[in-house]
Amino acid sequence: MSDPRISVRHAGAGDGRLLRAIRLESLADTPDAYGTTYEESVTWSRARWRTVAAKWNYYLAECDGAVVGMASGGYNDSHPGTHWLFGMYVTPSARGTGVAAQLVDAISEWARGDGARSLYLHVTDSVARARAFYEKMGFRLNGESIKMGRDPSLTLVTMVRALD
Ligand SMILES: CC(C)(COP(=O)(O)OP(=O)(O)OC[C@H]1O[C@@H](n2cnc3c(N)ncnc32)[C@H](O)[C@@H]1OP(=O)(O)O)[C@@H](O)C(=O)NCCC(=O)NCCS
Repeated sequence: MSDPRISVRHAGAGDGRLLRAIRLESLADTPDAYGTTYEESVTWSRARWRTVAAKWNYYLAECDGAVVGMASGGYNDSHPGTHWLFGMYVTPSARGTGVAAQLVDAISEWARGDGARSLYLHVTDSVARARAFYEKMGFRLNGESIKMGRDPSLTLVTMVRALD
């Protein structure tokens, strides 16, 4: 059973400050997991964070009112009928509690509701905990991989989960 103190909600324009805080935390915590950097994101204006919160389809996980995780969903133009899971992060004190699964469920529900048949993600092959988590959630390697744009020494592997 999920922890009643945990809730997951869709972010809106008023969440710019909260989203900035958890995104910057994620970039400082696990830089190799993300295509953007702390140094770049910390310079963004308040208006830009408001736009990101309003338009990037983020979901925030909260525990007793504090943000403890995030994830977002996007469209997958190269594979019509499928969507992406982006930007997964759970704060260290909330790892292993089921929060991450609730975030994946929220994105899956959004994608399913939008008619998607499967959910894609990229994960850096060296980030072992994230890979293990995604395997546990039913994502499987599909054999595709790419180099990360900002740092070609990092390899992103593609994992896919059927939504039906
Ligand atoms: C990825 C993330 C969201 C997963 O959430 P989580 O709460 O840690 O996930 P869980 O604890 O439910 O699952 C992780 C699994 O990996 C296992 N694990 C932990 N450390 C590991 C390691 N170094 N190598 C392999 N497996 C590991 C855990 O034991 C657990 O499996 P179990 O439930 O069978 O014991 C979270 O760890 C996180 O935010 N990490 C930093 C950011 C990140 O990597 N984001 C991914 C971007 S693609």
